[in-house]
Amino acid sequence: VRQLNLAAGEAAKNLTEIERSCQWMAERGYDRGAAVVGVGGGAATDHAGFTAAIYLRGISFALVPTTLLAMVDASVGGKTGVDLPAGKNLVGAFYQPRAVVADLGFLDSLPPRELSAGMAEVVKAGLIADAALFERIEREADGIGPQALAEMITAAVKVKAEVVTEDERESGRRAILNFGHTLGHALEAESAYALLHGEAVSLGMVAALTLGRARGVTDPALVPRASALLARLGLPVDVNGRINSQVLARMEVDKKRRSDGVRFVFVPRAGEALVQEVPLDEIKWQALATFSES
Ligand SMILES: NC(=O)c1ccc[n+]([C@@H]2O[C@H](COP(=O)([O-])OP(=O)(O)OC[C@H]3O[C@@H](n4cnc5c(N)ncnc54)[C@H](O)[C@@H]3O)[C@@H](O)[C@H]2O)c1
Ligand SMILES: [Zn+2]
Repeated sequence: VRQLNLAAGEAAKNLTEIERSCQWMAERGYDRGAAVVGVGGGAATDHAGFTAAIYLRGISFALVPTTLLAMVDASVGGKTGVDLPAGKNLVGAFYQPRAVVADLGFLDSLPPRELSAGMAEVVKAGLIADAALFERIEREADGIGPQALAEMITAAVKVKAEVVTEDERESGRRAILNFGHTLGHALEAESAYALLHGEAVSLGMVAALTLGRARGVTDPALVPRASALLARLGLPVDVNGRINSQVLARMEVDKKRRSDGVRFVFVPRAGEALVQEVPLDEIKWQALATFSES
């Protein structure tokens, strides 16, 4: 086994770094029988998976995620890839690892802010498909011990794995995993990545719940409940004033293009999700009004 160190975080996620990894393997004579083991956060696991997907047209790989986000999200589902100057995750491949080993010991060194950001995706999993998980986090948010965290990670991975198994290539049900991400991605980009992904998703979930309540889709009681939980986990929830015209413009560009609407994921009650097409104007005007009054 030989080790190649990647740049930390998003700096590893570009084609130059992919070429460097492929070249490194080629220089050492690695053939089709070689395997990649990607150890690190989501950026490293995305890099490792994409390298494995394209080196010699594909060699096997395994992942050892070391951040909470990578454990519950990036290492599950078979999406690998890197960024382009034009945007995040624009080049990649669907390529499944042979194994994923999540050792919670890695989380001891993870900064609390990164841990909170990962919890946003755990809450998301509960909200879209596992009411018991959501309620358990509500009960235990103020002191999640290692055993509880391990069980919550398992539950969140199960949600993602089940949804992805039903729909590996994102034609239908996989879209529910984007709960909180439609606005979340726009907020993340607009902050110039000052917001961590999970923080932006926290805000995006509050916004989607608020919009759902305004449309009569979401149980009104769920909005303050989810928002209070995310805040207790150390995540930002104050959408007020953040959904400005630049954010809306980004969402318009990023939207999955289909007629004039944006596909939005709504959570009617904890554990259930549905996708509705929302006309852009409705998001612009109704949502703006809603967010500024709540
Ligand atoms: N493939 C997918 O389905 C998928 C899903 C979600 C996110 N992602 C990708 O994952 C990336 C984000 O992943 P992330 O949140 O893990 O961030 P990250 O990979 O950028 O890691 C965050 C920082 O933590 C450091 N780090 C990693 N493990 C550590 C540990 N145990 N202790 C201390 N520091 C540690 C990293 O070096 C980095 O500086 C994004 O590029 C995103 O696009 C992919
Ligand atoms: Zn996410």
